[in-house]
Amino acid sequence: MPLVSMRQLLDEAAKGGYGVGAFNVNDMEQIQAIMEAAKQTNSPVIIQASRGARQFAQDRYLYHLILAASELYPEIPLAMHLDHGNSFETCKSAIELGFTSVMMDGSLKADGKTPATFEENVAVTKQVVDFAHERGITVEGEIGVLGGVEDGHGAGGSGLEHVTDPDQAVEFAEKTGVDALAIAIGTSHGAYKFSKKPDGSVLKMDILLAIHKRLPKTHLVMHGSSSVPKDLQDIINQYGGKLKETWGVPIEEIQLGIRNGVRKINVDTDNRLAITGAIRKVLWETPEKFDPRDYLKPAREAMQKVVALRMTQFGQAGHAGDYKAVSIAEIARGYKDGSLSTKPLVADK
Ligand code: 13P
Repeated sequence: MPLVSMRQLLDEAAKGGYGVGAFNVNDMEQIQAIMEAAKQTNSPVIIQASRGARQFAQDRYLYHLILAASELYPEIPLAMHLDHGNSFETCKSAIELGFTSVMMDGSLKADGKTPATFEENVAVTKQVVDFAHERGITVEGEIGVLGGVEDGHGAGGSGLEHVTDPDQAVEFAEKTGVDALAIAIGTSHGAYKFSKKPDGSVLKMDILLAIHKRLPKTHLVMHGSSSVPKDLQDIINQYGGKLKETWGVPIEEIQLGIRNGVRKINVDTDNRLAITGAIRKVLWETPEKFDPRDYLKPAREAMQKVVALRMTQFGQAGHAGDYKAVSIAEIARGYKDGSLSTKPLVADK
């Protein structure tokens, strides 16, 4: 299947009442792990690359690797998404490269660290929406600010400092016409999210429910959604690692989100943990080995296992064959003639 619009993929997920994992990549093995997991579970999928990934791998390597995935797995709907674009120029360059979806994270200024004003966020996000929609490309925006730092991007902190205000979420969706809306409900990027198992008082699920009530048709996005499983932490520490005890986002909370408008769930850290644990194990147990394939193969398999499990838990498993790709040109026509509405449905308080 050719690369698909993330808007199509999320509209289908809304119809089917499931969520879609958006998995970060930097290299070929991660892309292979995701595609094998998608094949194994028959899942549509979003592959996303951050600015850090684009720098690490170089744009054209990444683009062609993801394109190769779409050619090798024609049965899998696959969207290529820019994670945390920091400026109009970054989003424009991804669109010109061939990404079918971009995130404009205007919640932070272009330095990727300092929280922006609401007005600044609306202005830059709207600029990206106008440019992207004309070309049939999906846009994710963010309102509220996540905690932590990932690939040098992030405000730091706990994730509870700039939780999304539901009224602002409505105004933001109306003023920008984004296709998907990332909200801050207390999650943060990276492995160190919570120092105890989070309950309802730590993760602001009530905010998510309030936003979904006001914006019942808007596709919501949960960032920082790794669950940081104890068994993956243990493997790393068993083979010489030094992770401190930590907790991630419980799967049940993500599933509650999916029942309430969450359609895209960002996962990176869990895969990093799986890869690192598998590599450490091989190098620890067989220090005489030096062929990278001896540890990259188990690393790829460990990541595939995590991704396949998440695909099943998020509900996207089994849905790859539900639809055919609509061309990006057709999607662009849809934005132009209004059949792909960008005006959110807003319900009363
Ligand atoms: P994690 O660090 O929880 O995997 O979050 C990744 C993410 O949100 C990427 O945008």
